[in-house]
Amino acid sequence: MGERMQDKVAVITGGACGIGAGTARRFVEQGASVVVSDLNREAGQALADELGDRARFIRADVTREEDVAAAVDLAVDSFGRLDCMINNAGIIGAVGSIKDISVEAWDRTTAILMRGVFLGMKHAARVMIPQKSGCILSVTSTAGVAGGLGPHVYTAAKHGVVGLTKSVGSELAKHRIRVNAVAPGNIVTVMTSALITGEPDNQDVAAEMIAVMSPLGFSGYPIDVANALLYLASDEARYVTGHTLVVDAGQTTSGEAGEMFHQQEADIIREEGKRGM
Ligand code: NAI
Repeated sequence: MGERMQDKVAVITGGACGIGAGTARRFVEQGASVVVSDLNREAGQALADELGDRARFIRADVTREEDVAAAVDLAVDSFGRLDCMINNAGIIGAVGSIKDISVEAWDRTTAILMRGVFLGMKHAARVMIPQKSGCILSVTSTAGVAGGLGPHVYTAAKHGVVGLTKSVGSELAKHRIRVNAVAPGNIVTVMTSALITGEPDNQDVAAEMIAVMSPLGFSGYPIDVANALLYLASDEARYVTGHTLVVDAGQTTSGEAGEMFHQQEADIIREEGKRGM
C-alpha cells in the first residue's frame, strides 16, 4: 500500500509518549509531517529528533490557549498547512468517590481533558476553515461511551469529547472538515501501567493483565489506536464525520451475560406460546 498521509500535516497533542508517540511514528511512516506537542520536553524533543526533518517539537500545555495556538501556528509556519489536528493529551485525573472530589480536582481534570480538546478544535478550525479542508480527531476512551470504566471526572470529560465531536462535526461539515474521535479500551502505556500495577514502567505486567480482560485475548498497544487514527485521518474516511470509533477488543460490546446464551445447545427454537425458554 502507498503512503496514506502523503504531504499531509498533523499536530499531535500529548505526542511525546504512549498513544501520541505511536501515532506520530505511524503518521510520519505514512508520509505525514508532524508537530509533536507536549508538556514533556525531553521525550518530545527526542521523538522529533528520531523522526527527522518531517517532525518538530513544541512544549505546549493544552489547558493554555496561547500554547495550543502556538502549536497550530508552528505546523503552518514549518509545513505550510494543517490537515489533521489530534487532540490526544490526557491524564486520569481526579479519582475517588463523588462525595469526596474537590472542585479544584474537577476543574484541573476537565481543563486537560475537555478544555484542551475544545482549544485544539478551535485553533484547528481557525486554520482549516479558510483552507476548506481538514480533519480533527480526538482521543476519548471507552469511558466516554459507558459508565463504570473509569473515574467520574474522566468519564464525564471523555463523554464530553464525544459530544463535542458530534457538535463541531455538524458545524464544520459545510467547510469539508471532518471531526471524529477514537475511543480506546485498555492500551499498554505508562498511564495504564501506573494505574493497573502502581508502576509506570511495569508495562509487561500491565500487558498480561490487560490481555486477561480483553475479549480477544490479547492486549492493545499504541499502534492499534494509531491505525484507527490513520484511517480516520486519511482520505479513505472521506465520508465519515461526527463518529467515535471504539478500539477496545470488544470490551464494551461483550457483556458477560452473553455466555449464558452462547453456551446453550443450538437449534432449539422457542415454541410460540410456551412460558419461559
Ligand atoms: P501517556 O501518559 O502515555 O501520554 C499522555 C501524554 O500527554 C504525555 O506525554 C503527557 O506529557 C501529555 N500531557 C499530559 N497533560 C498534558 C497537558 N496539560 N498538555 C500537554 N500534554 C500533556 O498516556 P496515553 O495512555 O498515551 O494516553 C493518551 C490519550 O489516550 C489520553 O487522552 C488518554 O485519556 C487516552 N486513553 C488512553 C487509554 C489507555 O489505555 N492508555 C485508554 C483510553 C483512552
